[in-house]
Amino acid sequence: MIYAGILAGGIGSRMGNVPLPKQFLDLNGKPVIVHTIEKFLLNKKFEKIIIATPKKWIEHTVDILKKHDIKSDHVQVIEGGTDRNETIMQIINEIDRVNGINEDDIIVTHDAVRPFLTHRIIEENISNGLNYGAVDTVIKAIDTIVVSEDGKYINNIPVRNEMYQGQTPQTFNIKMLKETYEELSDNDKALLTDACKILVMKGEKVNLVEGEIFNIKITTPYDLKVANSIIKGNISND
Ligand code: CTP
Repeated sequence: MIYAGILAGGIGSRMGNVPLPKQFLDLNGKPVIVHTIEKFLLNKKFEKIIIATPKKWIEHTVDILKKHDIKSDHVQVIEGGTDRNETIMQIINEIDRVNGINEDDIIVTHDAVRPFLTHRIIEENISNGLNYGAVDTVIKAIDTIVVSEDGKYINNIPVRNEMYQGQTPQTFNIKMLKETYEELSDNDKALLTDACKILVMKGEKVNLVEGEIFNIKITTPYDLKVANSIIKGNISND
């Protein structure tokens, strides 16, 4: 089966002093998270779309789904985890509890705060996820990437052609991700903040799907302005 996991378990501290976590802020008349969920609802391949939010925002999320006419019984809201990977694991545990996990089940995980993903990106995540077991969505690095360990001097300038910027969705064979994650020590869990990195560190191959430059993550107030411009300028052409 194919599942979607919408990661909305953060509190958006880099957004500054706003009344709601950024996933619930208004973007052109609708909360950011509603834009994101609507993209997933357009794809009929998902058995279930599971949204994970902080405990105190579960009720609010259920209310906004109702308000925006998202009544589908295959959309569910659960409590997220203490960090992003723990939120993914909460979603996987819920799938396990209700349906069990089969060998070829996959999950398309996506940041609630990336409302501009496209149908193509979802489709390629699904088909490559089924084929390869692990997928990351990336765009080629535009700027030269400079590595500095102390923030003062350059340690390295990697070859730009080999550099990409990670976006989401990230798609995984559920069984493989769960088993690999459970093998990690608490120390590794704290270090491996990116779910794909867990698999890379364990020597698993992670396939790349091409993202879109407009598939931005809303992190700061500036990003929210850019997101409004993307909508008003009709830049996300899907
Ligand atoms: N996320 C999550 N569970 C967590 C932490 C983050 O599901 N425990 C989600 C966020 O809700 C967001 C996505 O992961 O949709 C990307 O993370 P980020 O932009 O870092 O979100 P926040 O942690 O909310 O932001 P900040 O780091 O500014 O506090």
